[in-house]
Amino acid sequence: MTHDNFTLEPAMTKAEKYETLLKQAESLLVDETNTLANMSNVCALLHHGLGFWWTGFYLMDGDELVLGPFQGPVACTRIGYGKGVCGHAWKEQLSVVVPNVHEFEGHIACSSESNSEIVLPITKDGEIIGVFDVDSKEFNTFDETDVIYLQKILSLISE
Ligand code: SME
Repeated sequence: MTHDNFTLEPAMTKAEKYETLLKQAESLLVDETNTLANMSNVCALLHHGLGFWWTGFYLMDGDELVLGPFQGPVACTRIGYGKGVCGHAWKEQLSVVVPNVHEFEGHIACSSESNSEIVLPITKDGEIIGVFDVDSKEFNTFDETDVIYLQKILSLISE
């Protein structure tokens, strides 16, 4: 079975692209229960579909987050509790949209090319297991539409 018969057109709105990606994610994840495999495919799908700069997971490992499946340039491997945007999202258990990373106190710059970022907590069976992090080279890339659709797509992993 192929999973690549979904087309994103440049003229589509962000929400229309996410609707298509959501359907593709459902088709990819429906028959697979392995969390690592599903996280890997979600990264690739979103990264290449939406042209992000860095897209990936950081997973809880004691009192730190450790790098998980990702797409994009090499990244920091460990982030402390409450540190950076990722640690902040983990500690506060909130989705965090950062329009300009240079104005976020404590932001961890894995890449000097990142200018805006979004981080969402990932839960499984009601418990936080890590975060999903996306970086963009542009400022102001992310908004409520990203939060809503990324939460929908990420919820497919935890089902
Ligand atoms: N900027 C993140 C670190 C991870 S990288 O962006 C891949 C942060 O401040 O937590």
